[in-house]
Amino acid sequence: MSQFYVTSTPEALGQHVSALLINKIQQQPNLVLGLATGSTMLPVYASFVRLATSLNLDLSQVTTFNLDEYIGLLPSHPQSYTYFMQHQLFNHLKSQPKQCLLPKSQAPDLQAECRNYSAALKNFGLDIQLLGIGTNGHIGFNEPLTSFASRTHIVELSNNTRQDNSRFFTNKDEMPTHAVSMGLADIMEAKEVLLLATGAHKAAIMAELYASQVTENLPASILKNHPQAKIIVDEQAASLIPAAGLIRL
Ligand code: F6R
Repeated sequence: MSQFYVTSTPEALGQHVSALLINKIQQQPNLVLGLATGSTMLPVYASFVRLATSLNLDLSQVTTFNLDEYIGLLPSHPQSYTYFMQHQLFNHLKSQPKQCLLPKSQAPDLQAECRNYSAALKNFGLDIQLLGIGTNGHIGFNEPLTSFASRTHIVELSNNTRQDNSRFFTNKDEMPTHAVSMGLADIMEAKEVLLLATGAHKAAIMAELYASQVTENLPASILKNHPQAKIIVDEQAASLIPAAGLIRL
């Protein structure tokens, strides 16, 4: 059963989560780390870079797997998730992870790429997976009604998600309609999961998640079946959750 934790600000959340990840890497230098993109991760990665630099952290045995990548954007496109990871995290680290993997959404045979990505995840075994959440409850790009048994797959983005993410695209026609995403079954196989949410625009979905049964209507609710899932939110995202349901960090 997942537990809800609250921090004062997104920056405090970033510090808490980055310290937790760095502590894990220090204990297990070959950690397999599942990463996410999006605004929620910005304070996490900024804090991770500061802390890793000040500790001279050795990441050379770490492997990272990202959750998802858009289809139709070159890795060099500023809105691709490959570009996001390079510019928000990897380019700023003195020590580079051994491997940084994202779904290769340019692959000529995308179905084969999806199978290979799930196979690699199984082979390595995710130690810890970071997740954000969409305002419709998606995790990765697993939109409402995605099967809980899903593996890495090609996803058609919902109108809600396209609307939310169009803020990053000056030319709305460039906003992709499809992505490759880890499936919900892949995510559930991580030994530990951290779902993060910040900002008032996430308050409604977090209250819904708090109260929800486990249902495919709300993909993030699957985490209630995970033995080691923590949900960490800032004050604003927690504002509609009863205080008694929150542990203050
Ligand atoms: C990103 C991802 C998405 C985002 C979610 C929240 O790799 O898989 O599920 O985590 O859409 O995005 P932000 O953080 O921008 O609100």
